[in-house]
Amino acid sequence: MNTNLPKDHASIQYYDSDYPSEEHSVFSKNFDDTVSSQGLKHDVDRFLDFVTKNNGEILELCCGSGRVTIPLAKAGHRVTGVDNSRGILEQFEHNLQRENENIRQNIQLVEQDITLLNLDKTDYKLAICAFNSLMCIPDFDSQCKALSSIYNHMSKGGLVVIDLMNPFILNLSGDAIPKPFFTRKNSHTGNSYTRFAASGPMNEDQIQELYGWYDEIFPDGTVKRKNYSMKWRIIFPFEIKLMLKQVGFNIKTIEGGHQKEPYTTDAKKMFIVAEK
Ligand SMILES: C[S@@+](CC[C@H](N)C(=O)[O-])C[C@H]1O[C@@H](n2cnc3c(N)ncnc32)[C@H](O)[C@@H]1O
Repeated sequence: MNTNLPKDHASIQYYDSDYPSEEHSVFSKNFDDTVSSQGLKHDVDRFLDFVTKNNGEILELCCGSGRVTIPLAKAGHRVTGVDNSRGILEQFEHNLQRENENIRQNIQLVEQDITLLNLDKTDYKLAICAFNSLMCIPDFDSQCKALSSIYNHMSKGGLVVIDLMNPFILNLSGDAIPKPFFTRKNSHTGNSYTRFAASGPMNEDQIQELYGWYDEIFPDGTVKRKNYSMKWRIIFPFEIKLMLKQVGFNIKTIEGGHQKEPYTTDAKKMFIVAEK
């Protein structure tokens, strides 16, 4: 999901159903077989592997509606969650209302653009940028600025954990037409919807449009279609290594998934750990 989308953008309205959480999905059946191919099944557990009491407060960049933040807080950790979308942060606050006071107190939400991050605390020992969020800043210079901002908010020896798509398994030449991706329940209305998804061809700046529509069936039998479109910027393995190095990080590991799979060109993910 890109920067600063309006609140009524389909990507915000359907976010929690499109990217469900095992912990706090309103409709638990939304956490279905497809979540594995989406890369949502094991990522929270893998992030938890990096969380220790010694980390102190965790910095989560591009926190969205709390899919990762809330489980971290439930595990007893304090988290600063940063996102620059008012609409998605409102959904986060809505999701938090279902949690008890102890968990709510563990979370501080900040509405900021991470490329211009300016927090009081600048000695985080663990920073997390989950679920392709860096790719959702679809411009190379801004991606570099985001990494630099993260670096400036961390203490020496601190770890940054970044989860990205493996570009080699993406369809970089694009799809002919959007195809049905999944059918789920809209977490706000309870209606069934089917998401049709496609990607356009990657351009010379490594930017790709992701587009399609949602067909939601209302109780009176009518189907309402809502189109969506967003962009992401694809990052290649050597590129992310250079980007992190240029900012001052040392790469520790790049894994190919959330279960410590080795990184290969056919891996699902690039799961990167770097040290300041
Ligand atoms: C793919 S979603 C990931 C959300 C969440 N981390 C998760 O794992 O479900 C990307 C998030 O990045 C946020 N975002 C995009 N550009 C941003 C920026 N420049 N500064 C802060 N947040 C940004 C979007 O608002 C969106 O919530």
